Amino acid sequence: MPDQTDRHTTHDAEDDPRNRDILIYVDGKLKPRAEATVSVYDSGFMLGDGMWEGMRLYDGTWAFFDEHMDRLFDSCKAVSLDIGMDRQGVLDALTMTAEANGMTTDVHCRLMITRGVKVKPFQHPSLSRSGPTIVIIMEHSRPVDALQSRGIRLATVPQVRGLPMSQDPKFNSHSKLNCVIACLQAEEAGADEGLMLDPHGFVNTTNACNFFIVRKGEVWTSSGDYCMNGVTRQKVIDLCRENGIPVFEKNYSLYEAYGADEAFLTGTFGAQTPVAEIDGKSIGTGERPVTARIRELYKELVARETA
Ligand SMILES: Cc1ncc(COP(=O)(O)O)c(C=O)c1O
Repeated sequence: MPDQTDRHTTHDAEDDPRNRDILIYVDGKLKPRAEATVSVYDSGFMLGDGMWEGMRLYDGTWAFFDEHMDRLFDSCKAVSLDIGMDRQGVLDALTMTAEANGMTTDVHCRLMITRGVKVKPFQHPSLSRSGPTIVIIMEHSRPVDALQSRGIRLATVPQVRGLPMSQDPKFNSHSKLNCVIACLQAEEAGADEGLMLDPHGFVNTTNACNFFIVRKGEVWTSSGDYCMNGVTRQKVIDLCRENGIPVFEKNYSLYEAYGADEAFLTGTFGAQTPVAEIDGKSIGTGERPVTARIRELYKELVARETA
């Protein structure tokens, strides 16, 4: 494994000592971090059989809550996972956790729903007899500023995004092995995150974020067929459309990615994170006017949404 000292991830946050003492929601109860556990028979632990959402709290409001719930409820419906509560129930659980932790802003949460606890250590979903298991981890979280100036280094990896009839890449499933393998491959190549291609060889997404390039003032991202249907991705596309920035969801290859003027990643955690290099090739000159404009527009959108 390469030297880790100069490694960065798109999810680097400022160290916040308060996170050592957080309370974690486990099936309706709030538990100190060290006591917040699930059964070794849990389907999420055993099989990765669950769905999750990452969300951010700003000034007491969960940004884009409805969009996150659309994705979560659609995903759970597709795999017959009964959440056991409606959207209001999810919101109440989030509110309960935030209040118990005295959290109001600059908070990131991971909401996890699994099929629950099995009676035997085997795959069949019907063996999950008590459930679902619902866990909410909320942390004080501010992405490190250094990511904005330095940017992230990507390496193209052999691991590709799958076709929807194997495991639809739109599932934000507990099992992220496809992405984890991609990330390991990127690390071996000395990069921070993996740039993944689709089954046809077109540039698709990274192992943890959606991917955009800027060429001659135009913003390009993949067709959307093989990537996570990221909430931030859609917001960026909408913002471009509303603000006269040409934006295209289309197939393109590494040829166009290497030659881009700018490239950036999107995700709930880091909003928009600039890409400094791909496969050791610098992207553009380091000037990133379009990324900066989109970042500003996104900040304003979040402020409006959470006002
Ligand atoms: C593979 C992958 N791509 C993209 C994203 C970003 O999605 P969002 O913008 O909804 O946070 C995530 C986040 O869960 C992800 O796991």
